Amino acid sequence: LTCKRYPVQRLPFSTVSEKDLAAFESIIPGRVITDPDQVEACNVDWLRSVRGCSKVLLRPQTSEEVSHILRHCHERNLAVNPQGGNTGLVGGSVPVFDEIILSTALMNKVISFHNVSGILVCQAGCVLEELSRYVQEQDFIMPLDLGAKGSCHIGGNVSTNAGGLRFLRYGSLRGTVLGLEVVLANGTILNCLTSLRKDNTGYDLKQLFIGSEGTLGIITTVSILCPPRPQAVNVAFLGCPGFAEVLQTFTTCKGMLGEVLSAFEFMDAECMRLVRQHLHLAIPVQESPFYALVETSGSSVGHDAEKLGSFLEQVLDSGLVTDGTVATDQRKVQTLWALRERITEALSHDGYVFKYDISLPVERLYDLVIDLRTRLGPLAKHVVGYGHLGDGNLHLNVTAEAFSEGLLSSLEPYVYTWTAEQQGSVSAEHGLGFKKRHVLGYSKPPVAVQLMQQLKLLLDPKGILNPYKTLPAQD
Ligand code: FAD
Ligand code: MLT
Ligand code: ZN
Repeated sequence: LTCKRYPVQRLPFSTVSEKDLAAFESIIPGRVITDPDQVEACNVDWLRSVRGCSKVLLRPQTSEEVSHILRHCHERNLAVNPQGGNTGLVGGSVPVFDEIILSTALMNKVISFHNVSGILVCQAGCVLEELSRYVQEQDFIMPLDLGAKGSCHIGGNVSTNAGGLRFLRYGSLRGTVLGLEVVLANGTILNCLTSLRKDNTGYDLKQLFIGSEGTLGIITTVSILCPPRPQAVNVAFLGCPGFAEVLQTFTTCKGMLGEVLSAFEFMDAECMRLVRQHLHLAIPVQESPFYALVETSGSSVGHDAEKLGSFLEQVLDSGLVTDGTVATDQRKVQTLWALRERITEALSHDGYVFKYDISLPVERLYDLVIDLRTRLGPLAKHVVGYGHLGDGNLHLNVTAEAFSEGLLSSLEPYVYTWTAEQQGSVSAEHGLGFKKRHVLGYSKPPVAVQLMQQLKLLLDPKGILNPYKTLPAQD
C-alpha cells in the first residue's frame, strides 16, 4: 500500500497494534477486516482523487458495538474515519493517513415505520435506494433523492446534510430529520432519537451532527419524516436558447405550476454532450444552449397534466423554450431523470475533474462558467455548469486530461474569491471534507470558525474523529 503524500502532517495518534486488533475482534467477532484488497476499496474515494493507507476496516452492526469501538479508540488515542457508502465528493469519506475505517455497511436495519405519520426510524447504514423502495411499498417516499442513491447511506446523507434533487420541494434534512442517535468520540451514546414534529426543549443537539461530516460523532440511527407518495409525477425536459430564458422559465414555472412543482434542474449544452459521448444516452430534444428538467408531483393526474400543459404552451409560445418532451409513465420519467443524474458519472469518464459546488444568487448562477471558459482557455478540456437551479446551487466542473497544478492555480482561489464577492457559499451541499477544509473562511467569518473549533474540542478533545477534515488546520 502506498500512502499518497499530502501537504499535511500526520497528527500524533497511536498506530493500531496486535492488541488493538484483538480488542476489536472481541467487540465485533469476524468483522475486523485487515485483508489489504478489501481495505483498499475503502481507502479510495468515489472520484479516485484521494487515497488513504488504513490497514483496518471495522464493520459493526449495532450502536453498542460502535460505542465499544470508540471507547477503545479514545482510550488508545486511535483516529477513526467514519464511512457510509463512500460516495462523498470532497474526500471526507476516506482516511488521509492510517485512520481506522469504521463502516456502517452492516448497520442496515429498518427499526420502525409508521404509515400514518410517515416517520421512518432506521440504522445509519441503510442504503438510500433501499429505503426508498421500502417506504414506497407503503405509499411514501424519502424526502431526499440523489444520483448516488444506489450506494449512499442515510447516515452519510445526514452527516453531509446532502441536498439533492428533491430539496426544492421537501427542504433540507435539517427539517426532515426528526431525531438522531449518535455515538460520541469517547463512546458515550447520545440518544436524541425523538420522532416528534415539534420539540422545543433546550438546544437542538441533533443539528450539530447534521452536516458535520463525521467530525463530532458517529450517527448510528436516524428518525426521518417521509412525505406521502405523489399520485401523479410528470417530468418535462426542455431546451432553452439562453440562460436568461432558463431563469424566465423558472419564474414562469413557479407562477403557473405553483404547489405541484417539485424540481427545477438545469444543465448546459456542454455537459449534455458529455452525457451523450460517454454514456451513449440520447438527448430527446433538439440541441440547445441550455436544458431544464422540470418535475411536478401532485395528488391528481388530470389537474397536474392540465397545469403542465398550459405552462408548456406558454413557454413555447413566448420562445423561452424552443423544444421539449414530457413523460408521465415511470419508465420515461426515469429516462429523463437519468440525463441529469448521470452527469457526474459522464464527467468522471472525461478525465480529471475539478469540482465546485457553490450557492449563488440565482441571477448570477451561470456568470462564473462563462468567465472561466475565457480565463482557462485551452488549459481546460471542458468547463460545464449544471445543478439545482431552483435552490440557487451551481455545480461548476472543469475537466482536464490529468491533474495539473497550473490549472488548479488558475481556478483557486479565483473561484472562491468570486463566490465570496457574491456572498455565496463555497460548498452548497457536498461539504468540505478533506479537499475543501481550507476554504471555510470564504463563507464563514473568523468568529464562526473559532466557535466551530471550540465545539470540536468540546465534543472530541483528542481529535480522533475524522481528523484533517471539515475544519481548517490549526497552527
Ligand atoms: P460517505 O461518502 O461514506 O461519507 C461522507 C462523509 O460523511 C464523510 O465525511 C464520512 O466520514 C461521514 N459519514 C458517513 N457516515 C457517517 C455516519 N454514520 N456518522 C458520521 N459520519 C458519517 N450530494 C448532494 O448533496 N446532492 C447530490 O445531488 C449528490 N449527488 C451525487 C451524485 C453522485 C453520482 C455522487 C457520486 C455523489 C453525489 N453526492 C451528492 C455526494 C454524496 O453522495 C453525498 O454527500 C452523500 O450524502 C454521501 O453519503 P455516503 O453514505 O456515501 O457517505
Ligand atoms: C449532482 O447534483 O449531480 C451532484 O451534487 C453531484 C455533482 O455535483 O456532480
Ligand atoms: Zn447536486
